[in-house]
Amino acid sequence: MNYRLKRMVTVGSMAIVMLISSIEGNTQSQLPPDSYRGAIGTKVSGQRAKLSFDFNWQFHLGDIAMKKVVKVGGQGGLTDINIKITPKDEPNLDYTNVESTNIYNPNDWKEVNLPHDWAVEGTFVHDPPEYSGSGGSQPAGNGYLPIGIGFYRKEFEIPETDKGRKISIEFDGIFRNSTVWVNGHLLGNHQSGYTPSNYDLTDVLRYGNEGRNVILVKVDATQPEGWWYEGCGIYRHVWLIKTNRLHVDRFGTYVTTPAVSDAEATISIKTTLKNEYKTAKSVTLVSKIVDKKGHVFDTKTSTLTIFPFDQTEVSQTGTIKKPLLWSPEAPILYKVLTEVTENDNLVDTYETTFGVRTVEINRNGVFLNGKLYPVKGTCNHQDFAGIGVALPDKINGCKLKLLKDMGSNGYRCSHHPPTPELLDMCDSMGLLVLDENRFLSSSEEGLKDLTTMLYRDRNHPSVFMWSMENEEAIQGTVMGARILETMVETTHKIDPSRKVTAAMNHARNDGGYSDMLDVVGYNYGDKGLAYVKDHEKYSNRVQFCTETTSFVSTRGEYETNWNKGYTSNSIIVKPDWGPYPGEDWADIVKYPYLGGLFVWTGFDYRGEPTPFTWPCVSSHFGFMDICGFPKDGYYAYKAAWTNEPVVHIFPHWNWQGKEGDSIKVHCYTNCEEVELFLNGKSIGKQKAASYKKLIWELVYKPGKLEARGFKGGKVITRDIVETTTTASQLAMNSDVNTLKADGCDVAVVKVAIKDDKGRVVPTANNLVKFSIEGPGRIIGTGNGNPTSHEPDKASQRMAFNGYCLVLVQTNKQSGEIKLKASSETLKDAEVHLKAE
Ligand code: GAL
Repeated sequence: MNYRLKRMVTVGSMAIVMLISSIEGNTQSQLPPDSYRGAIGTKVSGQRAKLSFDFNWQFHLGDIAMKKVVKVGGQGGLTDINIKITPKDEPNLDYTNVESTNIYNPNDWKEVNLPHDWAVEGTFVHDPPEYSGSGGSQPAGNGYLPIGIGFYRKEFEIPETDKGRKISIEFDGIFRNSTVWVNGHLLGNHQSGYTPSNYDLTDVLRYGNEGRNVILVKVDATQPEGWWYEGCGIYRHVWLIKTNRLHVDRFGTYVTTPAVSDAEATISIKTTLKNEYKTAKSVTLVSKIVDKKGHVFDTKTSTLTIFPFDQTEVSQTGTIKKPLLWSPEAPILYKVLTEVTENDNLVDTYETTFGVRTVEINRNGVFLNGKLYPVKGTCNHQDFAGIGVALPDKINGCKLKLLKDMGSNGYRCSHHPPTPELLDMCDSMGLLVLDENRFLSSSEEGLKDLTTMLYRDRNHPSVFMWSMENEEAIQGTVMGARILETMVETTHKIDPSRKVTAAMNHARNDGGYSDMLDVVGYNYGDKGLAYVKDHEKYSNRVQFCTETTSFVSTRGEYETNWNKGYTSNSIIVKPDWGPYPGEDWADIVKYPYLGGLFVWTGFDYRGEPTPFTWPCVSSHFGFMDICGFPKDGYYAYKAAWTNEPVVHIFPHWNWQGKEGDSIKVHCYTNCEEVELFLNGKSIGKQKAASYKKLIWELVYKPGKLEARGFKGGKVITRDIVETTTTASQLAMNSDVNTLKADGCDVAVVKVAIKDDKGRVVPTANNLVKFSIEGPGRIIGTGNGNPTSHEPDKASQRMAFNGYCLVLVQTNKQSGEIKLKASSETLKDAEVHLKAE
């Protein structure tokens, strides 16, 4: 049994719990605004504060020679040499006994804000695969960017008034193997690059005029965890959490909806309260169920006593009359507002977002709120153009929006738990999430990572199923089945409300492995043969297509070029384990019992440049490139997944020199018929078949190609592709005009190379230079070219097939930000953004 379960059981049995029935029943009343915002953001409520700890860090690239420690504190290993800040510091800083050269020298460190990924700041190197990480379908796991060791350091003050509170630090994610010291005290080590870590700082902090504090974090990213780009550093948010010593535990609530009908939803609320005082405490726990406007649906009150340095879980059950159900189409959220009082003093508040929805996964498919609900999902890695894995929240939101616009309703965070903000966004934007654990492991460390994901994520309505692992080599073995059984049972215990799968690519019928799962996850399913055969053969098996397709294409390319590392969009290049775009979805429509699918992948990502290797550094699997620019295959899914009329023709029509040659025009559509015209002359009308591409063969002549989509004999949509003249101007388009001057917000600025009629030149690769004025900075650039070796952290970028991207982040000042783009022979472009 893992340590956390054990602790809950023993502690629970020692505590005295007295439950008192609801005192307010189902009354609906209005809450005072802004009084319950304690658990998120930088707001203080009761005595709880969750403060952003992202700013004003220092970063040191590379290892620092460590001396053997002669110490008074009793802790061995790495020293606190780099945290020496004042000559009058306490003796625990002197025990390091190092030569002066090892003492902290500010010149070796640069200022950074988090999230931060130092790998993306590096230079591509064609090193042997074992250096860059290998595996997956190609080597070059880390996208041929160097990995290594780095240190982060931050000085901070804690006011005298915080004495007596509990203060901890929460790292949402560090890649990887991180070790943390505060004021010379070794606090611990956390291996996983994908689960959060938390340290109690209360005893080792200096308060008020005791002095300044220093935190030092060593990050050793020399070992990969996967075969994709994983980045290096403190790449997710960091929080300082201050509470009363009597408080709701970390991830301390669990809200489920065990019974849901039109008339009423039963809300089960379990709250773990912790007493870190040396005396027993009598407390009152009030849980209010509210909607987003603050209407209170139910209030439950319990009183209990908690022994010193003990904790207990309190169960309460409330109701919502006439609940509004959560779904991707209507992502309606509720909250449980928790108040902990002692002698009428409010000592802690906490808020838990949840949704009312039912998910049933059985041999007939996935049912959301009682209705068959095929999941239209994509698998995704974390990175993005310009910034590696250090994504400001805004960029995660943009990625999800792009996927939703394509008609997707599902997100698989392959192959590890995502940053928590992403789940908040999936809750509020409406996407079903397959939340995935990194490794098949029932070791103490393995179960700790698994249970951390479960405790952290189990309140999210978006999370519809847990995945234990992806394609582990020992799938289908007897030993693998034993390990899996421990993990699945641990998961059932912590969250009985969700089913458990594993993403399997082999041996689904061996060793009893699949029998351990509630739902057997099919990666590719041998191009459909396996899942249909297995459905008939195994009468108890519930199935889901955890991964499909893996077709590769390079945006804007229509000829495969092995030297440049580009794959054509016209002749689909794909590994032999996946079907063609759209064919996988045809199977879900034909066999709804498969429940849905997750296409590999929504976006290109660094690393795994299948079917190429160096000099190609990024993958080609995405519907969209690494900047989010759609490729042609995007429209195959948009046609299948939305009711919006879609006609999309390709390739572009700039084939100078090929006049008179035969050329194929391809089309993805969901119309009944499509007619193609070249320069006003019909090339023919074709009947469309669901999920199949249409193709016309014609003689190339420059001009205007137009496809008209018909439904019921009427034109309902059209797509036009024209031969352009040479590039003459730049155009910039920012997704927003106004930004928050908070040092976090980002404008995503698309740059297009156009001709003098304002048409994007689809082959333009001009170098674009950026300059910026005002309270903002460029945090990265990209162009979607998987073989580009240009630095992402730069103020210039070559366009790739007509486009490039620049990301502008605000400083913490308001004012006007002017971004200018220029290119030698082209007319400049400018955007003005307001930071406020
Ligand atoms: C899958 C694997 C993914 C990726 C993909 C490429 O088998 O789960 O991580 O490597 O193949 O096609």
